[in-house]
Amino acid sequence: MLFRSQFILHSSTKLLKGFGKNSTALAFLLVFLIFGGHIVDAQPGPARLTDQQVAAKVEGLLKNMTLEEKIGQLTQIPGGMMPSPVKPEVRIRKGEAGSVLWLSETAKINQLQHVAMEESRLRIPLLFGLDVIHGFQTIFPVPLAMAASWDPTLVEKAQTVAAREASAAGIKWTFTPMVDIARDARWGRIVEGAGEDPFLGAAMAKAQVRGLQGPYLGSPEHILACAKHFAGYGAADGGRDIDSAYIPEELLRDVYLVPFHAALEAGVGTFMSAYMDLNDVPATGNRFLLHDILRTEWGFRGFVVSDAFSVRDLVSHGFARDPKDAAYRALTAGLNMDMASGTFAEHLAPLVKEGRITTAAIDAAVRPILAAKIRLGLFEHPYVDEARAPQVFNTPEHRQVARLAAQRSMVLLRNEDQTLPLKKNISSIAVIGPLADSKPDTEGSWTVMGKPSEAVTVLEGIRKKLGSGVRVEYAKGPNIRRDIPSLFDDFSGVPKVAPQTPEEIDEAFNKAVDTARACDVAVMLLGELANMSGEGASRASLDLSGKQQQLLEAVVALGKPVLLVLLSGRPLNISWAAEHVSAILEAWYPGAEGGNAVADVLFGNANPGGKLPVTWPRSVGQVPIYHAHNLTHMPEASRMFRSRYWDQPSSPLYPFGFGLSYSKFAIINLQLKPTQPKLGQPVEVSADVENTSDRAGDEVVQLYVHQESGSASRPARELKGFERVTLAPGEKKTVHFTLGKKERSYWNGVHKRWIEEAENFDVWVGADSTATLHGSFTLNP
Ligand code: NOJ
Repeated sequence: MLFRSQFILHSSTKLLKGFGKNSTALAFLLVFLIFGGHIVDAQPGPARLTDQQVAAKVEGLLKNMTLEEKIGQLTQIPGGMMPSPVKPEVRIRKGEAGSVLWLSETAKINQLQHVAMEESRLRIPLLFGLDVIHGFQTIFPVPLAMAASWDPTLVEKAQTVAAREASAAGIKWTFTPMVDIARDARWGRIVEGAGEDPFLGAAMAKAQVRGLQGPYLGSPEHILACAKHFAGYGAADGGRDIDSAYIPEELLRDVYLVPFHAALEAGVGTFMSAYMDLNDVPATGNRFLLHDILRTEWGFRGFVVSDAFSVRDLVSHGFARDPKDAAYRALTAGLNMDMASGTFAEHLAPLVKEGRITTAAIDAAVRPILAAKIRLGLFEHPYVDEARAPQVFNTPEHRQVARLAAQRSMVLLRNEDQTLPLKKNISSIAVIGPLADSKPDTEGSWTVMGKPSEAVTVLEGIRKKLGSGVRVEYAKGPNIRRDIPSLFDDFSGVPKVAPQTPEEIDEAFNKAVDTARACDVAVMLLGELANMSGEGASRASLDLSGKQQQLLEAVVALGKPVLLVLLSGRPLNISWAAEHVSAILEAWYPGAEGGNAVADVLFGNANPGGKLPVTWPRSVGQVPIYHAHNLTHMPEASRMFRSRYWDQPSSPLYPFGFGLSYSKFAIINLQLKPTQPKLGQPVEVSADVENTSDRAGDEVVQLYVHQESGSASRPARELKGFERVTLAPGEKKTVHFTLGKKERSYWNGVHKRWIEEAENFDVWVGADSTATLHGSFTLNP
């Protein structure tokens, strides 16, 4: 099978070359060709139904349902992990549950489904939902890392694998993709999204939806996706998780909503409402978001689930008077399903009986949930084959995709004097740091079903790569830990480790320095534990925690080549390292194949080509920081400009879109046609990218635009196109972009609508957001 896949991959890559760029159809073709062999032995999928067929079936069901059974469909019960006074079976039998949360064992899933299909009155199948964030059993790099690949085809492929494994286990719905824009590295959940930029975020959102759902809802081996957290969650005040977000409508529409709309365009079947207040109205009770924008303006026809417990929590916000009011507010705002809080289950029926909520409103909320179950084929195929599921997990083909994904998502931030790639003929190497040999921290957080034991650490990857000829020494150095433990440590089985004594810290520190001293080269694995990023994992500082900074400085003081490999879910303060360490590689949390992939990159078997999906600050004082800021009355380019801070430059440490390669590239010959278009008329942009080195590699060619004047100030630069290109030594390619009306329009706060203005536009094409290759065009009325 492996061989066959390689052959198909090779032939399809050749085929791809004959086609244009960015072809969605081709991406599907590739995915189909690679995984097509498996589809033969896949569980049968549903026949693709027309909208009319689905609607007829929904109405047929609805007319036989009692109010309680309808409310059951609006209720998601916690299946595992959470203690519940009533057993799930009891509620399912009575038709009081439409969906089950957090259950991942196939046998248990089948068992509950049997109850729904054989013991409930209407035999409506359950929809099992789980967070399959970066892989189900085969763990991929975290989403921020995947975005750093700037490779939507790869992202789609990874989510195709995740969907395949999850659906084999009986999970037909995942709460992915998280498409929240994040511009503040303090926010722990920056790791779960695609970073700061709406254009990149939109591309990643679409790719994930395509990968998870396949060409249509109900495609074999695919599952229902969920765009979350609608909307503005990443703008939490101070980067504190779940704090209020205040986002003016201009920014909401131009930035924060863009990836959500992209997910919708890709056909995402569900949305999840966010936890926080948006402009003082909690997202779960926010009719402007859930009704006015999502349904009325965007025409969304799927369903919206709340975030866990957030219906009940409308009371804690100081928004709803009591749980009954919370149920009323959430349903009338446009929410369909209550995740885990039981508030709909308890209060909707009385609200209907009192006439405050109509039966028609309940029916409207139930319809898209039934429609999703029908389209997914759950009525015909409610169960999964328990014997088959393990055969689908963690296959060599899936692991290969994970390794490729990890290689392609790493970002080389510094490489003085071509320290990297390392030669294999060194005699000894020290691998040092608290993250060098930790399997869970190599995988990253949100790996519900990933088995850490199957992850390859960087120490293991280096050892395998070098074999017995090179002496590989390891020292962990002092431990790092969260000062305030994570809410999820108990669930995820993070061992409780007592703080080290000062003597233990000194001993570990000295051992690490001695280990480095005894070797030719030191590879330092520093950063954050997996539980330092993610939900409930915001930070007030971005410094390397514990003794990591001191250890780094002590090892660098030895005068040997030092390579810093960062494992993290956010940019960290590495300003000192950026001046003193020879090479810095951001490996993020690279997933189950992470150690192999890091070794591939360190020793040149893979050439890094990832680019930053976030602006990298010099220190925490700079956040929030992002490239698409406005010019101000004194732009950076003006003579007067020094810095907006007197104690630090206001420029970032590394700009958005930045990343080095072992190859060298030139981007030249920018062409724009026409340069005097009329409003609505597209401008075709092209540039040549050439590999000027003797090593094959990838460059991500990026297109930035600035509207020079208009009825509102526009960002200094906005990303409006990118393409990751692979080039052989000396090879040259031309990349093409289109700047159409969509790319030139923005939500204008003065006119309260989308607007394209007859103005001058600057265009830059290059390798990051500071690109200098410049052109311009003028839009004419
Ligand atoms: C809370 C998180 O905010 C959300 O992202 C997740 O999908 C749900 N819990 C369910 O696990």
